Amino acid sequence: MISELVVTTIADNLVLKPGLWGQWGLSYLLEFKDSKGEKRKVLFDTANDQTPFLYNIEQLELDLEDLDAIVISHGHSDHTVANVEAVEMAGGCPVYAHPHCFLPRFYESKDGKRTRGGVPEGQGIAEIEAAGGQVILSADPVEVVPGLWTTGQVPRINDFEKVSQPMGGGRRIVVVDGDEVDDYILCDQSLWMDVKGEGCWVITGCAHSGPVNTVNHVAQLGGYKEIYAYIGGTHLVGRDENYILRTARELEKFEPKLFSPCHCTGFNAMSILHREFGDRFAVNYCGRVFKTGEKPSPMVF
Ligand SMILES: [Fe+2]
Ligand SMILES: [Fe+2]
Repeated sequence: MISELVVTTIADNLVLKPGLWGQWGLSYLLEFKDSKGEKRKVLFDTANDQTPFLYNIEQLELDLEDLDAIVISHGHSDHTVANVEAVEMAGGCPVYAHPHCFLPRFYESKDGKRTRGGVPEGQGIAEIEAAGGQVILSADPVEVVPGLWTTGQVPRINDFEKVSQPMGGGRRIVVVDGDEVDDYILCDQSLWMDVKGEGCWVITGCAHSGPVNTVNHVAQLGGYKEIYAYIGGTHLVGRDENYILRTARELEKFEPKLFSPCHCTGFNAMSILHREFGDRFAVNYCGRVFKTGEKPSPMVF
């Protein structure tokens, strides 16, 4: 069981505090005592734009020199732009990801024009390893340090959370074993941990597998009936009100005490979820700190 958890948002779309830079991207630093009582630091994702990511680390006076590990939620550029820089700051450390995370990805527009997607150039496995990182790929859950787990690949079991192709048309493509296939972002994974005195915290990247599928999977893995905290992306951006309300209803079954949807949630879903979850909803933003034992104020800092 983990204790003394502190989650600091390094990168998110919102800034509600002077002196930090926002971006379309995500990165969290997790500091805690692991289940054996040892102090740990784990970085979850490495943002979309390097300059604001590095600037916020400096402004927040975060020290990444003694990182125990980096975990990558999935192979999109808004979560992986500073993999190498983070490994360098750590002086080398393990980097956990799904086997599809670093595969080549493309977006093909309706008129057939292709642009590169996925992990940015220069931030792949070879570059991470050249910087002293050890890339560990697993589709199964992995215990990153004692008490902190990845979900691994999330089973997509419900009938409504489907990864759709881009809303404006076109196609997302991933190259698997040399074959170009539709990209359903199977590499999406989240972090979860049992926190002393509170219960299960779930931290997501984009939750492309669906926030409900993700929480269901964590509940099965850890044998939970309730989830204490959900922090991270939900990928509800662009979804209609019925879809968002269904997500809220399904998540409510786990009786979360802290819900901080952010990043790819979108303004519409944020406002609906705020209404639905009331004072359990907490806005996330660059520099936000969530701590065990502290009830965060919902809208302010
Ligand atoms: Fe994202
Ligand atoms: Fe994503």
